[in-house]
Amino acid sequence: GPGAVEAVRWWGRMARSPLDTYGALARRYGDAVRVPFGRNRAFFLLSRPEHAERILVANQDNYVKAFTYRPLRAVLGDGLLTSEGGTWRRHRRVVQPVFAQRHVVGFASQMVDTAAQAVGRWPDGVALDAAGELRRLTLGIVGRALFGSELEGEAEKTGRALEALQRAAVAGTFLPGVTAKRGVYQRVPGLGGALEHLDGMVQRVVKGSSGGELLNLLKESGQFSDAELRDEVLTLLLAGHETTAASLAWTFMLLSKYPAARDRLEDEVDEVLGGREPKAEDVDRLPWTRAVLSEAMRLYPPAWTIERDALEDDEVAGVRVPAGSTIAVPPYLIHRNAEVWPNPEGFQPERFMGEQKHPRYAYLPFGGGRRICVGAGFAMLEATLVLATIARTHRLDLVPGVAVPVRAEITFRPAGALPMRVMRR
Ligand code: HEM
Repeated sequence: GPGAVEAVRWWGRMARSPLDTYGALARRYGDAVRVPFGRNRAFFLLSRPEHAERILVANQDNYVKAFTYRPLRAVLGDGLLTSEGGTWRRHRRVVQPVFAQRHVVGFASQMVDTAAQAVGRWPDGVALDAAGELRRLTLGIVGRALFGSELEGEAEKTGRALEALQRAAVAGTFLPGVTAKRGVYQRVPGLGGALEHLDGMVQRVVKGSSGGELLNLLKESGQFSDAELRDEVLTLLLAGHETTAASLAWTFMLLSKYPAARDRLEDEVDEVLGGREPKAEDVDRLPWTRAVLSEAMRLYPPAWTIERDALEDDEVAGVRVPAGSTIAVPPYLIHRNAEVWPNPEGFQPERFMGEQKHPRYAYLPFGGGRRICVGAGFAMLEATLVLATIARTHRLDLVPGVAVPVRAEITFRPAGALPMRVMRR
């Protein structure tokens, strides 16, 4: 592994561009890399499926969310994503039933209606910002389905707030003494206004008269203080829309680059739907559409890295990990590990058709173990229905000559606008 002097250089690079730096470390040193930091701690970058299985599943009691989540915790507090122990367990028990598969299918018509309305507003033959449109759509869906609130109008400000938040989170992570105290971030220039917007949106949602199913459940469970309720609403609003929007944006980008995959998708949608809008039951009959989404999430996992701190010493698939170490098992790297994925950089949805040949933890866009994404079923249903609803009537093409810059902070997404030309089919 790298020596201590060289480590300083790597840390500097990580603070500027974590995804590129993780990739460079893995290319240079292989799929188990140890980078020293602080006086006697180490950061492990592990990118084999066995590493993920050990940390997220087999020995998960030995791990807590890493210190690198502190800036996020400052904002999301005791919500599901950033809480631990008894608080996490109590919240998960209340929230989980809403996301059970047989329950989630009840949201299908809201998902389809929201997508159909959005598409209906698109001008024909004109370039628009696909990333922004999709964030607006997915925020609209979680707002309606979970909270009974109309949030599409909040999407632009929310997008800007999230940009500021993610930039500050990455910059802050690598400062000594990084904290989860909210007050510190409120004083960061440009971030105070972002937090104010998010707080305001949550307040409007919580006070909303029609409630929405999840909100009523949270309020009536008797398990949440006012502060915990706010944290959970904000967590579900943010975790519940930005990732799904990114996975759809990457999917449309890839479909525009791979016309054969797009033709096959359009044929499948036409044949299964026969000119009507999709329903929850159709999802099982759209295997290629789902495979396209799965393959897009392999190459471009919106939650591109998963990180934990070790409580006690451990041995992770042959790697000795001392107590207090920080470990990253990034889906981005595991999904592109050439030992488990033939032609790892190629876009091949066939990988996800029929029986799947990859090892179980070679593919983890939603994480694993007990902290696995609570919204995974919701997200897959939503992404499939939205993709089918849009593809049924419209085709999106990248504007020629416009590069798609990427940005990886907390999530991995197109940087800024994603200009795509929309055509009626
Ligand atoms: C957790 C990915 C959609 C809510 C996670 C984790 C991943 C993930 C990887 C685990 C993080 C970790 O272990 O540190 C994604 C992706 C999505 C998506 C790629 C879309 C394509 C959603 C949706 C919701 C949601 C739609 C809710 C409506 C959550 C919550 C957690 C979580 C609350 C924390 C769960 C816990 O720790 O108990 N997500 N997610 N996510 N996700 Fe998602």
